[in-house]
Amino acid sequence: MEANLDRDSVSLWMGTADTPRFAPLAADTQCDVCIVGAGIAGLTTAYRLAGEGKDVVVLEQRDLRGGQTARTSGHLCSALDDRYYDLELLFGEDGARRAARSHIAAVDAIEAICAREAIDCGFARVDGYLVQGRGDTRAGILDREYDAASRAGLAVERVPGAPGALSVFGDALRFPGQARFHALRYLGGLARAAQARGARLHGDTCVASVEGGDDAGVVTESGLRVRAAAVVVAANVPFNDRLAIHTKQAAYRTYVLALRIADGAVPDALLWDTLDPYHYIRIAHDAGGSWLVVGGEDRKVGQDDAPEARYDQLEAWTREHFPMARAVSYRWSGQVIEPVDSLAFIGHNPGFADNVYVATGDSGNGLTHGTLAGLLLPDLIAGRDSEFAELYAPNRKTLRAADEYLRENANFVPYYGELVTGGDVDSTAELAPGEAAVLRHGLSKVAVWRDPAGTLHAHSAICPHLGCVVHWNGAETSWDCPCHGSRFAAADGARLNGPADHGLASVLLDAEPALPPGERPSRQVHL
Ligand SMILES: Cc1cc2nc3c(=O)[nH]c(=O)nc-3n(C[C@H](O)[C@H](O)[C@H](O)COP(=O)(O)OP(=O)(O)OC[C@H]3O[C@@H](n4cnc5c(N)ncnc54)[C@H](O)[C@@H]3O)c2cc1C
Ligand code: FES
Repeated sequence: MEANLDRDSVSLWMGTADTPRFAPLAADTQCDVCIVGAGIAGLTTAYRLAGEGKDVVVLEQRDLRGGQTARTSGHLCSALDDRYYDLELLFGEDGARRAARSHIAAVDAIEAICAREAIDCGFARVDGYLVQGRGDTRAGILDREYDAASRAGLAVERVPGAPGALSVFGDALRFPGQARFHALRYLGGLARAAQARGARLHGDTCVASVEGGDDAGVVTESGLRVRAAAVVVAANVPFNDRLAIHTKQAAYRTYVLALRIADGAVPDALLWDTLDPYHYIRIAHDAGGSWLVVGGEDRKVGQDDAPEARYDQLEAWTREHFPMARAVSYRWSGQVIEPVDSLAFIGHNPGFADNVYVATGDSGNGLTHGTLAGLLLPDLIAGRDSEFAELYAPNRKTLRAADEYLRENANFVPYYGELVTGGDVDSTAELAPGEAAVLRHGLSKVAVWRDPAGTLHAHSAICPHLGCVVHWNGAETSWDCPCHGSRFAAADGARLNGPADHGLASVLLDAEPALPPGERPSRQVHL
């Protein structure tokens, strides 16, 4: 287990739980269903399919800590982070009712799996509170949501405030029966349970390509082939899809702090506000005590000038509202994929034969959307009807979301122009240890990071997805693409988040001796 690695983006869940590891795939194989990705979507799907007697292979490029499930804040909600009055506009009253039912079913499924498989992950039902954020001047916004959530069939109550220390936010909507858990303890238990049902899980196995049709299956980066009657891409963001789905969703980074609190100092509940970006709060208990977990400050990936400042902003907000909070134990950020119309894309993967399926567009409710994938995809694979299939169909066109669609797709157009502009600096000599910049290199651009020991790491700055120029993210020591949210490690260019299907190519620089921390280079090194 890691120690409290404050600055290194380790989540509370990563810091307080070990997770099982799985051997890499070692030879070609075949199965009924091949699942790409061992997050909550992939593993719930594997668990359910294996329970139906299907021969399942799960391929995970890293391990259980490598995806967004390890970075979540762990609210399990049927009261979604997008408003039900918006869902009514987008999908009609019946659609909003089905959305509510689907997330209620997902939380129930997590509770049932915890009980059946004896997963000790601190699952508990708690109340959720929606409050009007300070600065949100819209009149009657809580009343509007109360009406829409009631029509959608949710239990909801208008209260003068959340209890105890949470009452600082004033009027609230109370949603009973929401829940919270320790995300990695749950994921580890789910993986073991899927394995016990016969699913074959492999870590450190990156899938490079996906095929559908009669010759369906996947090929790994190391050239191994898994033949399958059906393939499920549960990679959080599909890497096998160049554009179709990526025009309907956008990647945001969201930031989280876990601060120590005295047991009981803040009531055990969930709370979120109506701001955009919004704040979200919960309590976590583990052997070591209690934490106040606070998230927010979301920004579009690669378009944030100061990602390093987000933690400070979040901490300032937290201390203003919760003066009893003690030191920050953990802080981390992660990727949230926002669909233009609020609901995930779960079903047949557009552009592929009928036997390729996808789960993506999880939004801030990705734990329930991911669990829902595990309920819905086995139905679709088996040819069974599901009341949720149409609502979550990846090929749906929600005409009423056209404005959002145009806004998100116009948003990154200016970034394509960066290929022809100059670099941030003229020479690597301008980079002190810990600094990074994009440099012009002939007709192209190079992303250069000088690590704290003084060694330069240079990679192509051109995103392998569709060619935008990557931007530096100092909070995560990564290169982030402003167009569709792909991310790459600064040290070796490895792909951290899709849709890119591989990492940044490395670029050879003139040899340069490593510098001690704090010392500037003594000679000019040009590309
Ligand atoms: C900070 C934060 C807070 C959040 N809070 C909440 C919350 O409170 N409630 C909620 O419901 N949701 C929340 N979410 C969203 C939710 O956590 C995620 O949407 C969800 O965990 C995603 O699950 P997943 O299985 O789709 O993806 P992941 O957990 O990312 O799993 C996908 C897996 O696929 C693997 N993979 C990718 N490409 C390949 C490849 N080519 N080959 C093999 N493997 C591959 C990855 O390594 C990864 O392990 C939050 C997210 C973040 C980041
Ligand atoms: S993620 Fe699409 S161009 Fe980079």
